[in-house]
Amino acid sequence: MAVGNSASLLLGLLVLVHTWGAWAAVDVNMEDRVEVFRGDTAQIACMFTSVDGIGGVTIMWFYMLQKGERQQIYFQDSTMKITKQGTPYSDRISVNGTGANGVVVLTINDVQLRDEVEFICLIKSLTDGTGEGRTKLRVFATPDLPTIEAVETAFSVHDLKPAKIGVCEVTNGYPKPNITWYRENTPLRNDHGVSVVSVITSEYSGLFSVKSEVRMMVTKEDKDAKFYCEVNYFVPGGTRMTETNRINITVYYPSTAVKVWVESPKGKIKEGDSIELQCHGDGNSPSSVLTITHDGGLEETLDDNRLVLSNVTRLNSGVYHCNSLDLESDKEITGNTTVFVNYLDPAVVIPHDTVVIQGEELVATCNALSSPLTHTVVWFKDGREISRGHTLKLKDTTFSTAGTYVCVVTVAEIEGMETSGTLRVTVKGQPKIIRPDNTDIEESFEKSVNLNCMVRGFPVPSITWTTSDGQVLKTVSQEETEDSVKSVVSVKVMSDITAVCNASNEYGTETLTFSIKATILTTTQASTTASTISSNTAEVPKKLKKEGSGVIIAVIIICILLLAILGSVLYFLYKKGKICGRSGKQDLSKEKSSKDNIVVEMKSDNTEEAILLGVNGEKQPPSDQ
Ligand SMILES: *[C@@H]1O[C@H](CO)[C@@H](O)[C@H](O)[C@H]1NC(C)=O
Ligand SMILES: *[C@@H]1O[C@H](CO)[C@@H](O)[C@H](O)[C@H]1NC(C)=O
Ligand SMILES: *[C@@H]1O[C@H](CO)[C@@H](O)[C@H](O)[C@H]1NC(C)=O
Ligand SMILES: *[C@@H]1O[C@H](CO)[C@@H](O)[C@H](O)[C@H]1NC(C)=O
Ligand SMILES: *[C@@H]1O[C@H](CO)[C@@H](O)[C@H](O)[C@H]1NC(C)=O
Ligand SMILES: *[C@@H]1O[C@H](CO)[C@@H](O)[C@H](O)[C@H]1NC(C)=O
Repeated sequence: MAVGNSASLLLGLLVLVHTWGAWAAVDVNMEDRVEVFRGDTAQIACMFTSVDGIGGVTIMWFYMLQKGERQQIYFQDSTMKITKQGTPYSDRISVNGTGANGVVVLTINDVQLRDEVEFICLIKSLTDGTGEGRTKLRVFATPDLPTIEAVETAFSVHDLKPAKIGVCEVTNGYPKPNITWYRENTPLRNDHGVSVVSVITSEYSGLFSVKSEVRMMVTKEDKDAKFYCEVNYFVPGGTRMTETNRINITVYYPSTAVKVWVESPKGKIKEGDSIELQCHGDGNSPSSVLTITHDGGLEETLDDNRLVLSNVTRLNSGVYHCNSLDLESDKEITGNTTVFVNYLDPAVVIPHDTVVIQGEELVATCNALSSPLTHTVVWFKDGREISRGHTLKLKDTTFSTAGTYVCVVTVAEIEGMETSGTLRVTVKGQPKIIRPDNTDIEESFEKSVNLNCMVRGFPVPSITWTTSDGQVLKTVSQEETEDSVKSVVSVKVMSDITAVCNASNEYGTETLTFSIKATILTTTQASTTASTISSNTAEVPKKLKKEGSGVIIAVIIICILLLAILGSVLYFLYKKGKICGRSGKQDLSKEKSSKDNIVVEMKSDNTEEAILLGVNGEKQPPSDQ
């Protein structure tokens, strides 16, 4: 396009010149420059105007050598086209177009860096003379992707000289590429505090590599800054740009503020807790030293920003300061926090041990010294809550009032904060017998019965047992507690008995009477058929029995005498031979012998006695004996 415009412009000029003088030269028009990437094909056009036909024009192409001489590479007239041998272009160029339309084009294949020279197109006309034009060939090579390298070390804001931040490199570009450093989005230029140094290397291939490093005085603000390089390079018709990755740097800077706080426990602190203090500055300088101090004399250097105080007491309350000393700048800054350790002393119960007379009123108080906290007092007896509040009032005391009271003081705001105290109450008074369900006892004759007498009283009553007829009973066992006693006696029931338990102490006496009624033992030996008989016999009093046996003996003796008389009479009659048979004689002797046995047995056994009565009183078959 540009070529065409310039051509028509020049054509006008030529017409002007031509009319001015016949000796004027051939007018040649060419582009100033042609731009092409290395390895591509370049085309250089040569436009001319001549009144001569195609046959009268000679076309020659040259290029300029370093020393200012020109070297022909191509020749063409109406008869021949010759590419000069032995030049760098001998086998890389071609020219098309015959010149008939006033345009010839030199084509150069596989353009190299050294092809960046001036090419000359020379036109010789038979009638118009000679004219020539020049075009500079520009060659470009796109560089490799740029790299960036951060300096690994950390920087301190106290560094006195600018520190090297990083190095950027771009290789194999043509012409020379450009490196620009950026911090965030602002280019870094040589300025006070910043120095950018670029080194350009010309490679053997003719390409250029550029290395650029930046040094600067770092500030705290640089800790989050991103650094990168921008590479600019030329391409045919313009420029292009690429960027490297972003890098960041480590900057050490001292603290400007220090904070110290209680990390745990959260909430209120009580004695015995372990507390963890933490101290942090807003700087990151490794050369700063943190120290925690407390009025109590504590001074502790922290290794990992924490300090643990275990089993704290109220003495640990107060202000804790944390100092941050920057060793590089020798500057010190401080933060503080206030710690309060709550406390609760052991409960004090007044009175501690007390004795009251039965019926009197008892008043006790329970107090615990503590830091300002709302606390609750609860009184317990035997694990049961009986009262709330500092004061415990017990009216109309009885023996049941006696015992151990525990007052428990708790703080609702702080879990686990608790103390307690005890109150021991002793109630003095007259013995009180705990009445059993039944004091009227029936027990079998000759059996033993245990009588229990359970008495409360303080001082512990002494117990005596007596019977109604003044006999002192011996205790089988006696168990005593602080304010009670249990006494047991064993009584053998021989007849109806009245036993008295007499409990007494200095405050009085109380008695309890047991009456025991003797019952007759029911025998278990008697058979079912003889049960009525045997129970009758059992009911017979012993005295009566003894008298009875005497009478029986007398009766038996009389009977024997009668039998003896009868026997002698019968014998007399037998001798006379008329009265009795044989069998009667036998029965008689048998009966006699059995009667002898009965007499013997009667004394030894009651059962035999019963049978004997049967023989005497009722008809018994002989076989029964
Ligand atoms: C010369 O030849 C090239 C290809 O070889 C072609 O692209 C170009 O148009 C030609 N120029 C003329 C003036 O014929
Ligand atoms: C190189 O940098 C300079 C100044 O920053 C600039 O004028 C020039 O155009 C740059 N070169 C390229 C190839 O971008
Ligand atoms: C750079 O920044 C990244 C995240 O933005 C972070 O992970 C890395 O540690 C930083 N490196 C340095 C040297 O500060
Ligand atoms: C805590 O301190 C108190 C008094 O200073 C002490 O009696 C107690 O034994 C300590 N407890 C522990 C677990 O160290
Ligand atoms: C604690 O720090 C505060 C500021 O955070 C300051 O006003 C106060 O005076 C300090 N207290 C002590 C006792 O140093
Ligand atoms: C009980 O015993 C006490 C002292 O041992 C005595 O004084 C009192 O008279 C006795 N009482 C009775 C009813 O026996």
